[in-house]
Amino acid sequence: MTESIQGSNSEKYTHGHHASVVAAHSARRASEAAAFVLPRLSSPMRLLDFGCGPGTITIDLAEHLLPDGSVLGIDSSGAVIEQARRSAVERGVSNIDFSVNSVYETGYDPNSFDAAYAHQVLQHLSDPVSALSEVRRVLRPGGICAVREVDWGASALWPPDDRLAKFFDVYHRVAKRNGGDANAGRRLKQWFTDAGFDDLTVTTSTWTFADKGGLKWWGEQWAERILRSDIATRAVEYGIATEGELSEISQGWLDWVEAEGAFYAFIQVETVGVKF
Ligand SMILES: C[S@@+](CC[C@H](N)C(=O)[O-])C[C@H]1O[C@@H](n2cnc3c(N)ncnc32)[C@H](O)[C@@H]1O
Repeated sequence: MTESIQGSNSEKYTHGHHASVVAAHSARRASEAAAFVLPRLSSPMRLLDFGCGPGTITIDLAEHLLPDGSVLGIDSSGAVIEQARRSAVERGVSNIDFSVNSVYETGYDPNSFDAAYAHQVLQHLSDPVSALSEVRRVLRPGGICAVREVDWGASALWPPDDRLAKFFDVYHRVAKRNGGDANAGRRLKQWFTDAGFDDLTVTTSTWTFADKGGLKWWGEQWAERILRSDIATRAVEYGIATEGELSEISQGWLDWVEAEGAFYAFIQVETVGVKF
């Protein structure tokens, strides 16, 4: 298996790459996750997708850039890069490459890319402005950087449940202890400004879970992730939750799926900046 690399000494990726996490990320598509920037992306652009994960969005972006554009997906995890490579072959998409690399120090030459994209990555970084500055360095003048980050603090849940209130507390505290910020969405504009991007376009969209299929997908996913993925290990290691409390949270999500009137939504903040 390809080696992973350490993104930064001062942070840990909150979710890790347990099968339950990678399965959730593999459901993502550019038609939803990159809708805010797709009209600005066209052939023959060369695009960098940083923190690409299992690559389903990345592969969609490569298809979008046909016939003459191309995409490079990078991620600090060798395991997800291997999976992304396999998916590209399975889908018959060849204008794409993947590399195990850190966004903090890519080693690419200036002017290497016309565009850069990231989905749900900066929230996990202890120094998102350094990461964006590195992306800006490798873009050509006039190139664009497009990022989408959730804001867990701007969310709405029904019905109220103490176990799920505990979930949000655990999530925020583990993310912070790992060096990230679960409320990254609200800070995205500032990070782009601090990294030197100009002409910012800031938009929002929402993830909403209200119908039977959506509730089941979201609730069952978190019922498993809070028990078996890295967030569970870290929560116990940091003394933020006991295994017993995590079991209660897990059951809380399963009960929520079946609850009358169940609803959950949170906002996604999207920013596109230009390198002048
Ligand atoms: C929440 S996942 C998002 C994956 C993908 N963009 C998506 O939305 O499906 C965040 C990804 O960022 C990667 N990552 C974390 N730190 C990184 C770094 N310094 N450089 C590159 N990738 C990094 C993680 O390994 C993980 O795959």
